[in-house]
Amino acid sequence: MLFYSTLLRLAGLLCLSAAYSTLSDDTLKSIPGPGDDFDVKKGSILAPILQTRVSGTPGNAAVLQHFVGFFKTNLPKWNLEFHNSTSTTPTSNGKEIPFVNLIATRDPPGAQVGEVGRLTLVAHYDSKLEPKGFIGATDSAAPCAMLLHTARTLDAALTKKWESIATDGLDELDEQKGVQILLLDGEEAFVSWTATDSLYGSRALAEDWEHSFHPAMSTYRNPLDSISLFVLLDLLGSTGPHVPSYFKTTHWAYKHMANLEHRLRELGEFKSSPNHPSKLAKRKNKKPRDEPRFLVDAEKGDDAFIGGFVEDDHVPFMARGVEILHIIPTPFPKVWHRMTDDAEHLDMDTVEDWTKLVTAFVGEWMELEGFFDFKKEKRKVHEEKTEFGIP
Ligand SMILES: *[C@@H]1O[C@H](CO)[C@@H](O)[C@H](O)[C@H]1NC(C)=O
Ligand SMILES: [Zn+2]
Repeated sequence: MLFYSTLLRLAGLLCLSAAYSTLSDDTLKSIPGPGDDFDVKKGSILAPILQTRVSGTPGNAAVLQHFVGFFKTNLPKWNLEFHNSTSTTPTSNGKEIPFVNLIATRDPPGAQVGEVGRLTLVAHYDSKLEPKGFIGATDSAAPCAMLLHTARTLDAALTKKWESIATDGLDELDEQKGVQILLLDGEEAFVSWTATDSLYGSRALAEDWEHSFHPAMSTYRNPLDSISLFVLLDLLGSTGPHVPSYFKTTHWAYKHMANLEHRLRELGEFKSSPNHPSKLAKRKNKKPRDEPRFLVDAEKGDDAFIGGFVEDDHVPFMARGVEILHIIPTPFPKVWHRMTDDAEHLDMDTVEDWTKLVTAFVGEWMELEGFFDFKKEKRKVHEEKTEFGIP
């Protein structure tokens, strides 16, 4: 009996650890876009990030405060932690500059530390010191905004799913799956990119997490081990991105996201598509145009992975064995590290499309089909708005 039950448990765990379940067309169609919250001048999510936010400066602290306020107001069930470190930099004249990463985590209720595997979504929030006044709209204000919106969109469905597990009795075989958002500081070099002048926040965090051990016998040894996939967004928000699949070991996850992109395009949900209903309506010639792809490598074969990748916040994590899905275009956007990487040069349709795609991916990863109630939520938002007299 014991023998069989152990076998069954193992079989269950093996298949569940790769559990991932598709969202229906209806759900995909009802995923809310960020709308006014991404207005670059007044939007509650994006506008406050679009300022200079060099590590160790008041702008950086203000943006961090914006994130904290957003979670406290909209997502009180998320656990917030700061990870603080200091370092000198090539421009600090020997002074220690503070770097503050924000870690926002939502685990299933009652989960034991060391027993939860987490989908970890990552972007950096600092901006580059030069050129002076650089805003870094794609680098990475827009990706940070996407993650905040994603968290808010999925939060109620997570609650509902976990409540239903609690009422129906937690199946012994159910794996414990959580979501985590890392908003990292100090990604940019102060002078020029070297091993010591870059990735200040992520290097300190990966190192500290490597030595933060969970209780003995835990399923996951330390917080790094708890990361089931590290999804890093960077340089997103310019028109026409080409995002390759960089890593063979996570190509399966890339393919899931590419498949979602394909479905969202087919459903007419991608605003940047030349075949989006709004664009077709304006065109005399209604013949469909070639449908572009953000994720261009869905068909990439196993032997085509030759090892090229872009150095970014994932490096200190990858070096410690964490699985990485890096969503960054190659080539980089034309505005990269130029003054033109500002609000005016964001392509808002593309920003919105990325946001929906990431939201859908997290929804599938967390197996949230059947737990959405977007219509009701919309009404609630509307009621709140009228209550407070906001048009
Ligand atoms: C870490 O930095 C944040 C933001 O500056 C601050 O509020 C917090 O008190 C710091 N935590 C520690 C332990 O120093
Ligand atoms: Zn940059």
